[in-house]
This record gives sequence, structure tokens and C-alpha cells, in this order.
Amino acid sequence: MKSTVNEIREALTRVKSTPIDQAFVMPAEYYSSADFMQLEADHIFRKDWVCLGRADEVKEPGDYYTTELIGEQLLVTRGKDNAIRVLSNVCRHRGNMVASGKGKKSRFSCGYHAWTYDLHGQLLGAPLMSEVKGFDIACIRLPSFKTEIWQGFLFVNLDGNAEPLAPRINGLLPYIENYEVTDRVLGFTEEVTWQTNWKCLAENFMEGYHLDVTHPETLRPLTPTGLCERVATDGQYNAYYSYYDPKYPERGPFPPNLTERERRCSFMFGIFPNLVVAAAPNILIFLCLSPGSSDSVNIRWGMSSLPQSDGVTDEQREFMNQVNAEDKAKLETLQKGLQSRYLSSGPLAKPDLEGTIYDMYRYMAERLAGDVNLD
Ligand code: FES
Ligand SMILES: [Fe+2]
Repeated sequence: MKSTVNEIREALTRVKSTPIDQAFVMPAEYYSSADFMQLEADHIFRKDWVCLGRADEVKEPGDYYTTELIGEQLLVTRGKDNAIRVLSNVCRHRGNMVASGKGKKSRFSCGYHAWTYDLHGQLLGAPLMSEVKGFDIACIRLPSFKTEIWQGFLFVNLDGNAEPLAPRINGLLPYIENYEVTDRVLGFTEEVTWQTNWKCLAENFMEGYHLDVTHPETLRPLTPTGLCERVATDGQYNAYYSYYDPKYPERGPFPPNLTERERRCSFMFGIFPNLVVAAAPNILIFLCLSPGSSDSVNIRWGMSSLPQSDGVTDEQREFMNQVNAEDKAKLETLQKGLQSRYLSSGPLAKPDLEGTIYDMYRYMAERLAGDVNLD
């Protein structure tokens, strides 16, 4: 029989008392239930810090892009004051979307009746509305969500009640310091949709067990499964070292403070719930996951390079396109398997290989386990 939402939540309760070396895979419905997805939307994606991408995607005043998160339409702008804002991209008249795509503008005009807003969300003009009694243009603005920038990543908190993010994840700083993550320069961002649950993708990016088998031509010669080493964390993020095969050529140029050891690995980290990152000596790869439904995820992903390099090369991008295609194929067949009523899931591999999945379970358990009051 299929697990209900309550059964999923009880499985999360059991996670709390299970040692990492005895960790089990969560029931299939954890990854396939629309009802559980709704719970995640309400209690994780609306309440926690969610990453939208790199701050330098809106580099100059007037730069903007639009995106969607849990059914909310968002408009990210850099204002004349140089501050980044995440605004609701929903017109205060009757709710049409104010902007679309990305680009550079000094103001946004809603395509329905031409209400026009500035980069900060303030309404500037509304045709013929001065004739309406009590209409006060100065009082109307697009809602602005709470934001935080950490190491060059832009986070948003929809409900505005989350505790500051940085103190929760600053434990990562010693690990990433020498990779100079903040200073990396955005090469490109792209949005794609995969037919898989958002957690399957987060787990996949953060476990080294699949590398040899899923990526035989791409990652196996570079970061073989056998060299993965998990970093123990306090449950607010997960991380592992993905060491390079000694036969693989150097991946310079290098940030100046990178140690010999750091030159020979990518530091992989995930900030729960939705950001996963590979910090390699010469390149930064990030994926921001935005669930569309229980079995589809929208991915804003991109690559950033070192400021002293010539930018992201076509070769680097092509390599990641290949890796992503290999992961996508596996995750989309996985999602089909997870629809089965007969799946009885197995144990996780040893902590260095799949302990990072258990780390994410613990984060989910903290928020959604059966003993957590969700009222
Ligand atoms: S809905 Fe935007 S101007 Fe009417
Ligand atoms: Fe992969």
C-alpha cells in the first residue's frame, strides 16, 4: 500500500533516531506524493531561505530577471540605489504579470492596462486612474520580499519570518574560503525543467556514489566515486570533497590561496533546501531548484569563473551540458520507478558516498517530521 503523507512524516521522525551508518532510503512517496509536495511548498519553500541564483546576474542598476517559485511570480531587480530587490511580479491592479524574461529597464509597464512601476516596485503611473475616487498612486507598490546575499548567492524568504541565513551556514566558510566563491564572475545562467522530484536532483548532485556508473566518460576519469569524502555537518547544509583522479591534469588557473589539497578536488556543498554547488579551482557550478510539482523541477543553473580568467569557456559549458544530460536521463527514469506501489527501498551507501542524502533527510525531518507541529 502507498505511504500516506503521515507515513512519510513518520519515516522522517525515524530519521532523527537513526545513526548515519544505518540510514535507509525514504519511502517512494517522499519523492512522488503531490500532497507531500504541498507540505514542502508551504513549510519549506515559503518559510525558509531559497536561492535564486548569483547576485551578479543583476549587475547594474536596471538589470532584471523574472522567475517563479512555488507558484509565486518573482521579479529580481537592481535599483538605482544599487540594491537588489526581489519583488512580486504581479500587478497591483488586477494581477497580470508585470515583467517577463530578463534584460535591462528603467521601469516596468504592465501589458494589460499599462500601470507602470519603477525598479523598486513603486507605482509611477496608471492611465485614467486619477478619476477614481481615493486612488493614491504613492501608496501602491509591488510587495518586496526579504533577501540575503551570501558568498555572491541571492536568497529570498517569501514569508519574511526566517531567521538570518548566514549564521546558520557560516560553518561552510572555512571549507570554501580559498575557492573565493564570492568573487566568481557569472558566465551564464540558464533555466531548464527536468521531470524529477526536486529532492532527487538535490541528492543526486550531492552524492558521489553514482559518479562512476552514471558518468563513465565525463566524471569518472575526473572525480571517481572511490575518492569521495563526506564532510560531517550540523544538518543545515551538506558537503563532500570530490577528489580528482591523480592522473587527471591540473584544473587551473588557481585562486592564490588554494592549498595543494584543494587544487586536487572540487568542494561540493548544498544549502538546504534548494541550492547545490560545485566549487572547483577554476570554475563554480550552481543549481537552484524550484519545484514545479512532485515530479518536475525547474532548475536555474549556471557557471561562474575566476575574475582573473577569460570567463567560462565553451568547453567547460559543453562538459557540464554532457554531465547534466547524463544525470537528467537517470533522474527521469528514477522518477518513473518511484511511482511503483511495490518499491521497498533499500539502505543508503556508506557515509562518504551517500551520507549527504541522510544529512538532507535530517533537515527535512527537522521541519516536516511527524512530531513537528505544522499549524
Ligand atoms: S492588471 Fe496590470 S495594469 Fe491592469
Ligand atoms: Fe551526476
